[in-house]
Amino acid sequence: DEIRIFSPATIANVSCGFDVLGLCLDSVGDEMVVTKSAEKGIRIKQIIGAGLPLAAEKNVAGVAALALTEALDPEYGFEITIYKNIKAGSGIGSSAASAAGAVFAINHLLGSPLSNKELVPFAMQGEKLASGSAHADNVAPALLGGFTLIRSYEPLDIIKIDAPNELYATVIHPQIELKTMDARSVLRENITLKKATIQCGNIAGLISGLYTNDYDLIGRSLHDELVEPVRYILIPKFKEIKAAAMKAGALGGGISGSGPSVFALSRGVETAQKAAQAMAAVLEGTGIPFELHVSPI
Ligand code: HSE
Repeated sequence: DEIRIFSPATIANVSCGFDVLGLCLDSVGDEMVVTKSAEKGIRIKQIIGAGLPLAAEKNVAGVAALALTEALDPEYGFEITIYKNIKAGSGIGSSAASAAGAVFAINHLLGSPLSNKELVPFAMQGEKLASGSAHADNVAPALLGGFTLIRSYEPLDIIKIDAPNELYATVIHPQIELKTMDARSVLRENITLKKATIQCGNIAGLISGLYTNDYDLIGRSLHDELVEPVRYILIPKFKEIKAAAMKAGALGGGISGSGPSVFALSRGVETAQKAAQAMAAVLEGTGIPFELHVSPI
C-alpha cells in the first residue's frame, strides 16, 4: 500500500517544439513516496528540499492528485511525501515531476486503471496551477519517457517517440529566478508566415531525425524561430553558453522549457560531458551559481 517512485526532470520545447515537444531526462529527478490511507482525500505530508505549500489544493502534486481521485473516486485517500531534487523555476520541469509523479503513484496503488497516457490530462492540472497554462510538454515525457509530441491539445493527441540510443542531454541551470508565467508573458501572439514555415521545417526535421537515428539532422533541426529570439535576453550569457556547447561538439541546443536552464543534445556521453564543461566555463567567473546535469534520454 505504499510506492516509492523516481519522477524525472524533463526538457520542454526542445528548441523548435514550443508547447508540443518534450523529452525525459533518465537520471535527473525527484523521489516521491505515496501511501494509501483510510481517510479519504489527499494529504501532502512533507516536502524535503523545497519550501512549497503543503495544502493539497495549493500544491501541484496535490492538485493533480485531487483531479485524478475526483475522477476515479477511490475508497481511500493518499499521503504524499516529496523529496525534491529539481529546483522550482529551473526550467527542467520541477512542477511537472511533482504532478506526473503523484498521478502515476496513485494510479499504480489503485491497480493501474488508467494508462500513463490517460494520466496526462490530470497531471496537466498541476501545470495549470504552477504556470497558469495547462501545457503538457513536461508532464507527457515525464509519464511516458523518451520524447513526446503533443500533436494536438484539443483533443489531446500524444505520440511517444523513442530517443536514439546515443543521444545525451546536457543541462546547465544558472540559479536566477525565472517563472514560467513571466517567461510566457514576453511571448508574441502573432508570427509571420515566413517564420512559421521555418519552424515547421525544423520540427518535421527533428522528428524525422529521431526516427531514423540521424544525429546530424537532429542537430540541424534544433533551431527556434519563435520563442528563443524573444526569451533569450532573460537568461544570462545564453548565446555564449549555446555557442560553447556547439564548439565542444554538441549537435545543438537552446532554452530548456521556459528557462533559465539551457540544454544541449550530443551524440555520446563524452561529448555531452565536454559540452557541460564548456557551458560551465562561460558561467564561471560571472558570480552566477549554477548546476550541471548530463543525462541519457
Ligand atoms: N512549453 C512551456 C513554455 C514549457 O515554454 O512556456 C514550460 O516549462
